[in-house]
Amino acid sequence: MNVLVVGSGGREHALVWKIRQSPQVGEVFCAPGNPGIAQLAECVNIQADDLPRLAEFAVHHQVDLTVVGPEGPLALGIVDEFEARGLKVFGPRKNAAVLEGSKAFAKEFMQRHGIPSAGFRVFSDAEAAQAFVKQKGRCVVKADGLAAGKGVYVCQSAAEALAAVQEILVEKRFGDAGNQVIVEDLLEGQEVSVLAFCDGKTARLMVSAQDHKRVFDGDQGPNTGGMGAYSPAPFASPEFERRVHAQVIARALEGMAKEGRAYKGVLYAGLMVSGTQVKVLEFNCRFGDPETQVILPRLETDLVEVALACIEGRLDAVELRWGSQPCCCVVLASKGYPAAYEKGKEISGLERAGKQPNTLVFHAGTSLADGKTVSSGGRVLGVTALGKTIREAIGQAYQAVALIYFEGMHFRRDIGKAALPQSGGH
Ligand code: AMP
Ligand code: GLY
Repeated sequence: MNVLVVGSGGREHALVWKIRQSPQVGEVFCAPGNPGIAQLAECVNIQADDLPRLAEFAVHHQVDLTVVGPEGPLALGIVDEFEARGLKVFGPRKNAAVLEGSKAFAKEFMQRHGIPSAGFRVFSDAEAAQAFVKQKGRCVVKADGLAAGKGVYVCQSAAEALAAVQEILVEKRFGDAGNQVIVEDLLEGQEVSVLAFCDGKTARLMVSAQDHKRVFDGDQGPNTGGMGAYSPAPFASPEFERRVHAQVIARALEGMAKEGRAYKGVLYAGLMVSGTQVKVLEFNCRFGDPETQVILPRLETDLVEVALACIEGRLDAVELRWGSQPCCCVVLASKGYPAAYEKGKEISGLERAGKQPNTLVFHAGTSLADGKTVSSGGRVLGVTALGKTIREAIGQAYQAVALIYFEGMHFRRDIGKAALPQSGGH
């Protein structure tokens, strides 16, 4: 069968790499892809949000399965568009992708269905929001809609919260995505991402992963799309997974089905964990980036088989098998990222790094110029390694990182450190 992957980042490179391993697969296409992906698949020059052209391509190239990476096309209704043409596509429909597309919807949904999350209020009126945060003080202010990961303000004081409300509701920094704000209680604890494959009724949890959102070591500096990840989280016991499944994923699936929004695809729960308490920070309607780069190398089951089972509503018959080796991914970023960043820097050492044992170099923001691989995004590469222990995986990833260079390249030196035994991990 032929498979199309939609997107162009590190997550999509990992998806293509995994899908290529399926014995059922003939051609793999990726739209638009990147030079790393081009080594494994045929890249097609169609942007990820150009739904009509993507659907036409799928029809004309006998694509039997489409896997969608980013949230944009899902929120626009790519699944509805493909299904209307009789195409099989892995992801939630538009009416289910709203779980990521509207934070106000997600918060009210969680409240309706008893899913634990931070206390909150929703506002569309700036004066009312300002009066509320003035008396509240420390809190988290969020734009309702999709804001490319930038719409969340963790505020340590009323003054910061007032400024956040001003930017979102008054200055409209995120346009219509900021027509409403959510003001939440500020939660403390450890963050973990738990993703689940869903077929509308049944969910199968993936192994846990922890992302590193801040740009600098020691969780300093501004938030990014994610500077690295590792899997599993040190505290992710079977008991923890049972709790997340029962209190979060199963309730979400049941609630969405009851509301006529059957959820198929990947449900990503960003969680705050404190002792035995688990609370949802956010839902995403897709694979995480860079979490996917550390989760898929651990998946032994055929991903194509799992995706088809989700689409066809028979996930209950599928058991996922996972390798025992931990995995670590270090993101190499361009100078300036997460603010305005440099582009077009030639990258050296890719081939040698990719040949290191148990190592995968996923391309995130690269392109070709005069036959050379150059940087073209904020996050450029995700250097990933498996190891017998998390310590070995981390060491192997950084050994490969040391072989790669481009001007202005920066990365965190403490990815996975929290999972090491002397740092409180197990
Ligand atoms: P979100 O996109 O909703 O996950 O928010 C981005 C980041 O903001 C999260 O990864 C957390 O680090 C932080 N965050 C979001 N909501 C809260 C909250 N209620 N309490 C503390 N931190 C939060
Ligand atoms: N790594 C965070 C995300 O994918 O949303």
